[in-house]
Amino acid sequence: MPPSTASAGPLGVLAALAARAEEVERAIDTLLPLPEGPEARLLEAMRYATLGGGKRMRAFLVMEGAALFAVNPTCAARVGAAVEMLHAYSLVHDDLPAMDDDDLRRGRPSAHRAFDEATAILAGDALQAQAFEILAEPDTHSDPEVRCELALALAAAAGARGMVGGQMIDIAAEGQTLAGPEIARLQALKTGRLIQFSAEAGAILGRAPHHQRQLLAAYGRDVGAAFQIADDLLDAEGSAAETGKATGKDAAAGKATLVALLGLAAARARAEILADQAQAHLDMFGARADGLRALARFVVSRRS
Ligand code: IPE
Ligand code: IPE
Ligand code: MG
Ligand code: MG
Ligand code: MG
Repeated sequence: MPPSTASAGPLGVLAALAARAEEVERAIDTLLPLPEGPEARLLEAMRYATLGGGKRMRAFLVMEGAALFAVNPTCAARVGAAVEMLHAYSLVHDDLPAMDDDDLRRGRPSAHRAFDEATAILAGDALQAQAFEILAEPDTHSDPEVRCELALALAAAAGARGMVGGQMIDIAAEGQTLAGPEIARLQALKTGRLIQFSAEAGAILGRAPHHQRQLLAAYGRDVGAAFQIADDLLDAEGSAAETGKATGKDAAAGKATLVALLGLAAARARAEILADQAQAHLDMFGARADGLRALARFVVSRRS
């Protein structure tokens, strides 16, 4: 698929997301082992958690970013698959009873309900490992330095100073009143870092000049921040039928969100500013970045 097929309107970006989603689902299906042997249940749970659902927004970012630098689309889809596996692992663990205790994910039972807690924990562990395995494999890029850079960047985004660190703060902050900047940091870590990685990955694959990678990283940070505020708004205002997950849970759990701190209207206004700010980082890429611009708009207008 060529770059920037997403026209400005919401239908354009939805069609482009669906096309990228199909590409990355095929890649995930090929990359995941078949459920065979005495560990088959683990592999079934890994497939359950990664296939047949999800917007594939992180893979979209990888693939659109890669297209800016004429990266081989097969290599970009592998990195998109790796990010989606890491993301799926984070969702499987996020839904566990010890964390958000959610029974519904992507419109069906969450992994620990479809399987059991032990299998869900192990499937998450294995998905995380496989994400890094994919990045390290020669098929991802001919240059080992690029593969190492991808693994380094994903590890930083996923680990204690990234997604997992943010999840720790999110859980610890339940029932506490955090200030705006503390909530912003929590969300930058738990959600923003992986989205930032996704936006930067194409520049890494394409060995883009440093300043171009920096611009895409800045775009990813703003999109990530807008994305989590929109997620929190959907929890407050959306329905399970739309989002495929239980809603109204953040307030019940006393989650530290900007919606709780500022109210719906102010949180929405902030998300809108962040989506505009995200697009402002893309000026030098011209029309080739229209898909990324449309995605920034989609993030704040979505209903799922
Ligand atoms: C949900 O992410 C978890 C958050 C970081 C808010 P998505 O809304 O991207 O979930 P899927 O992949 O589309 O199901
Ligand atoms: C989760 O944030 C972010 C992750 C790192 C998985 P949420 O807990 O708000 O995500 P949802 O609403 O369950 O998808
Ligand atoms: Mg959570
Ligand atoms: Mg959750
Ligand atoms: Mg949420």
